[in-house]
Amino acid sequence: MTATTGLTAPPKGITAQGLRKSYGEKVVLDGIDLQVSEGTVFALLGPNGAGKTTTVQILSTLISHDDGQARIAGHDLDQEPDAVRQSIGVTGQFAAVDGLLTAEENMLLIADLLHLDRAEGKRRVAELLERFDLTDVAQKNASNFSGGMRRKLDLAMTLVGRPSIIFLDEPTTGLDPRSRRVMWDSIRDLVAAGTTIFLTTQYLEEADQLADRIAVLDGGKIVAEGTADELKRRMPGGHIRLRFNDMQHMNAAAHRLALSTVTRDDESLSLQIPSDGSIPALRAVLDVLEGSGIHAEALTVHTPDLDDVFLALTGQGRKTATTDSATAVKETQR
Ligand SMILES: Nc1ncnc2c1ncn2[C@@H]1O[C@H](COP(=O)(O)OP(=O)(O)O)[C@@H](O)[C@H]1O
Ligand SMILES: [Mg+2]
Repeated sequence: MTATTGLTAPPKGITAQGLRKSYGEKVVLDGIDLQVSEGTVFALLGPNGAGKTTTVQILSTLISHDDGQARIAGHDLDQEPDAVRQSIGVTGQFAAVDGLLTAEENMLLIADLLHLDRAEGKRRVAELLERFDLTDVAQKNASNFSGGMRRKLDLAMTLVGRPSIIFLDEPTTGLDPRSRRVMWDSIRDLVAAGTTIFLTTQYLEEADQLADRIAVLDGGKIVAEGTADELKRRMPGGHIRLRFNDMQHMNAAAHRLALSTVTRDDESLSLQIPSDGSIPALRAVLDVLEGSGIHAEALTVHTPDLDDVFLALTGQGRKTATTDSATAVKETQR
């Protein structure tokens, strides 16, 4: 019913092209492109010092960039910084919580800064304290809070202004596994309610668990971008494993599938076929079996995990990572 004007509406998520930033001689961002669809979770994954915080600071108007352009919630970063600021919320790696104030006071302060009507501000704050399980500690000074409670309060503060896009810079770094799960649940709730989330992380599992799309930042460039599954599939090492009931069927299958480099294990009566694990690849194998009346007992698909991807792309992983990300990687392996 709406007349088409020929102009497409600007995307409401985040787009960036050719973002560059240097500090003196040091090139931190060497031309990065980003695309985040509205209502999705995007993870910028990278080791310590990759430029994640710098990216968040640029996109949230906190620092300038040297080159490139970006649109956030439909607003041009350079032309309309105020409109950008009004659409976003930023939760930093180092929480903006004032320890000398109570949880409620911290929240009301934000409501005042946003010029919310007093009654409305109070209502909003009460609702958020409740939602983040902070009602019981609302009158306590935030300096007594655990790391997990501080992060929750920080996120609750970010939500006072009902931003449509939220930047979360390493939201769970330094949190114990339980608090991390609580934070993940909060993030999932936000997305379910339609919020767009741009998060940075050095935790592989975090990106895998939460993100619709992941971009890997390393050496000032985006070295890979895609869904977790797409990134995993790009890695060598994936394979399909077929298990058989008897040697005869296994031999027949090995013969039929001989074109690919099949590895056989006579003891477990199984064949291993290199594969990206995609549906067409699976179908091709199944078609061969069915076409020759070969019965396989079980089929399993093995894809490399995100850890392998990260290591291959950035050369960083368990061995060379800093203490912080080494812990992160270890935790993802449980
Ligand atoms: N204000 C600054 N002045 C000079 N160098 C900086 C500044 N901020 C960040 N850097 C450098 O930029 C690089 C990327 O930093 P950062 O964006 O904080 O990485 P990450 O958040 O991925 O750990 C690092 O080498 C860091 O030392
Ligand atoms: Mg950082």
